[in-house]
Amino acid sequence: MEIKNYKSFKGIYNIFFPDGSKKIATKNLNPGFKVYDEDLIPFKNVEYRLWDPTRSKFAAAIIKGLKVVPIIPGSKVLYLGAASGTTPSHVSDIIGLEGLQYCIEFSPRSIRDLVFLCEKRENMLPILDDARYPRNYDFILEKVDVVYCDIAQPDQAKIIADNANVFLKPNGYIMLAIKARSISSTKNPSVVYKQQMAILEDEGFDILEAIDLHPLEKDHAMILGKKS
Ligand SMILES: C[S@@+](CC[C@H](N)C(=O)[O-])C[C@H]1O[C@@H](n2cnc3c(N)ncnc32)[C@H](O)[C@@H]1O
Repeated sequence: MEIKNYKSFKGIYNIFFPDGSKKIATKNLNPGFKVYDEDLIPFKNVEYRLWDPTRSKFAAAIIKGLKVVPIIPGSKVLYLGAASGTTPSHVSDIIGLEGLQYCIEFSPRSIRDLVFLCEKRENMLPILDDARYPRNYDFILEKVDVVYCDIAQPDQAKIIADNANVFLKPNGYIMLAIKARSISSTKNPSVVYKQQMAILEDEGFDILEAIDLHPLEKDHAMILGKKS
């Protein structure tokens, strides 16, 4: 087995298995504990967690060729739609103990699991609130490097823009996972992606990358943007 950095992405790894296969992974911040049903891979005194691109749109975007990953060790991240923490746990692995992730989730059922996860990961803070109202949680006093949004709502582009306007540092990044079917069940997904990008541009963001996540995540795209 061999383990190398995934491209030049800090905190993200490619594991090359003896059978010739390779899989993406992060270093487990909480060794011995799984978050979903991911495999744990010990190697040279470090434990890695496989990152399933069919369970995480962030991982799917990387596999599908995302060129820039703005979430790096030490990053401050505002994560909208954290659910029970599948992708946020990998973000937590990447940013490490120098970083901090504010996890917004409005489902009481999901946040229960998320709170248990955050108890084991010092760099994750769970916040039960509606991402539509960023002023509700402006007790978060610091600005963040990245606002990540995966909420499957029809107005998700507006919601990430409103949050970025409150919390994003100058020159910070946004990552928006678009679920075309939550916006329109009849329009071609590529038309929906373009409409969402137009909303972000109207809100003052430059679109740096747009990655279609098919076939890893059907009718989903990941948009990487930056405040201009
Ligand atoms: C697709 S799931 C997120 C999966 C998660 N990002 C991951 O990759 O592990 C979408 C989540 O967004 C939450 N959500 C939807 N609208 C929201 C809102 N307005 N505010 C906060 N959370 C919201 C849902 O409750 C759900 O848990």
